[in-house]
Amino acid sequence: MSQRSCLSVILAAGEGTRMKSALPKVLHQVAGLPMVAHVVKAAEAAGASGLALVIGHGADEMRKAAARFAPKAETFEQEKRLGTAHAVIAARAAISRGYDDVLVMFGDTPLIDADALTVARRRLAEGAAVVVIGFRPPNPAGYGRLIEKDGKLTAIREEKDCSEEEKKIGFCNAGMMAVAGAHALKLLDAVGNENVKGEYYLTDIVEIASAQNLDVVATEASFESALGINNRAELAQAEAIWQQRRRHDAMLSGVTLIAPETVFFSHDTEIGADTIVEPNVWFGPGVRIASGAKIHAFSHIEGATIASNCDVGPFARLRPGADLRNKAKVGNFCEVKQAVIEDGAKVNHLTYIGDARVGAGANIGAGTITCNYDGYSKFFTDIGEGAFIGSNSSLVAPVTIGNGGYIASGSVITESVPDDALAFGRARQKTIPGKGKELRERFASAAAAKKKAAGADH
Ligand code: UD1
Ligand code: CA
Repeated sequence: MSQRSCLSVILAAGEGTRMKSALPKVLHQVAGLPMVAHVVKAAEAAGASGLALVIGHGADEMRKAAARFAPKAETFEQEKRLGTAHAVIAARAAISRGYDDVLVMFGDTPLIDADALTVARRRLAEGAAVVVIGFRPPNPAGYGRLIEKDGKLTAIREEKDCSEEEKKIGFCNAGMMAVAGAHALKLLDAVGNENVKGEYYLTDIVEIASAQNLDVVATEASFESALGINNRAELAQAEAIWQQRRRHDAMLSGVTLIAPETVFFSHDTEIGADTIVEPNVWFGPGVRIASGAKIHAFSHIEGATIASNCDVGPFARLRPGADLRNKAKVGNFCEVKQAVIEDGAKVNHLTYIGDARVGAGANIGAGTITCNYDGYSKFFTDIGEGAFIGSNSSLVAPVTIGNGGYIASGSVITESVPDDALAFGRARQKTIPGKGKELRERFASAAAAKKKAAGADH
C-alpha cells in the first residue's frame, strides 16, 4: 500500500458560528495546536503526501495559519458553502492530478486517529471504490445514517432526510471517507442537491457508486476519534480526551505522573523515562525533557529543554529558551528565560535569570535578578563556572562574572568581575555602639509626652 499515492482533502470552509469567535473554528486549539493541524498530522501519519485544504470563512487568516502548520498544503477557496461534495470539488485541481487514494476529512475533528484512515486506505488497496468510516455515537441524532442492504453499504441518509425507521439506525457516518482517485471526480460530479437542505452532499457518492456496482464498504472507528467540535464545551471535551490519552502514553513510556489528571501536556511535549512529574504541572509548546528529571508541583514550563536528572520547581516558571543541562536545579519561584543553566548549576529561590548563561556548578543566591532590559533592548549576563552570586543581587546586563567570581549579597553589579574576584556593589555597613538604645529611649519619651498632652485636653 505504501506505493499508493494519497491526497488528503480537508474541509474547513465552514463558519463555526457556535464557537462565537472572531477566530475561524478550526484554528481553535487542542493541546496548543489548531484543530485542523491535528487533522493534517493524522493525514500525514496515514501516508497522505498531498494536502488540500478547503477554506472559505476567514480565508486570509486560514491561509496565514496554514503556512505555519502545514506549509506543504495547497489551499482552495470555496466561495459559497453549497455542501460537503461541493467543498471537495473546490480541490478539483489537486484531485485531477490523479492520486490512487483520496481521503476526505473534516477540519473540526481533532481527535481523528490515523489508524482509522490507514484501515480505510487498505480497503481501497483491496479494490473498494468508496470506504466510509462509520461510528456508533451514544446519541446518533444529527448524524448521517449508514444504510446497509444484504451486508452492503448502499447509502448514507442525512438525519433530515431519514424516515422514522432509518432514524433508529445507530451506525453513523463519522464524516471521513476514502475514495479511489480513479472514481473520485466522476462520483462527485454526479452529486445533485435534491434534498431537504438543498446542498450537495458528499455522502451521496455512496448511493451513486453502489448504483454503478462499485465496491462500497464501511469501516468502524471509535466515537472519540470522530468527535466533531462545534462549540467551546465540545472543545474542552476534546482537550480532556486528548490530555487523558497523552497522560496514559506518558505513563506507559516510563514517566511517573503522581496525579495524572492535573498534568497538562502540549501536542509536542517530549519527556523521557524515569522523569517524575508532581501534581499541577503545565507544559506549553516546545518542551523537551530527557530522562530522570524531577518536575515538582505547580511548575509552568514552555519552550524549555531539560537535560537528565534536572530538578525543577516547585513553582518554577521556565520560559522559551530555558536550557537546563545535566543536574541543573531551578527551584521555587524562579523564572528562567532564554538562558542556559549549565551542568549542576543551582538557581534555587526567588530569582529571575533572563538572557544569560549560568556556568557549570555556579550557585545563584535567593532573590538574584539579571537586569536584562532597559525598556528598549535586551542585554546578556554571563556567569562563569563555579561563580557564587550572593542573595538579593542585581546583575545589570551587559555584564560578565568570571569563573569562580564571588558577589557579595545585596550587590548591584554594573561592571564585569574577573575570574575568582570578590565584588561588593553596595554601601559599606556602619555600626554605632549604643546608638540603638539611645534612639529607643528618645522615641519612647516622645510618645509618652504626646499621650499626656492628649489626656490634658479632656
Ligand atoms: C456531515 C455528514 C454526516 C456526518 C457528519 C459527521 C454530509 C452531507 N454529512 O454532516 O453524514 O454524520 O458530518 O460529523 O457530509 N463544509 C465545507 N463547505 C461546505 C459544507 C461543509 O467546507 O459547503 C465543511 C464544514 O466546515 C465542516 C464539514 O465540512 O468542517 C462538515 O460539514 P457540516 O455541515 O458540519 O456537516 P454535518 O451536517 O455535520
Ligand atoms: Ca458537523
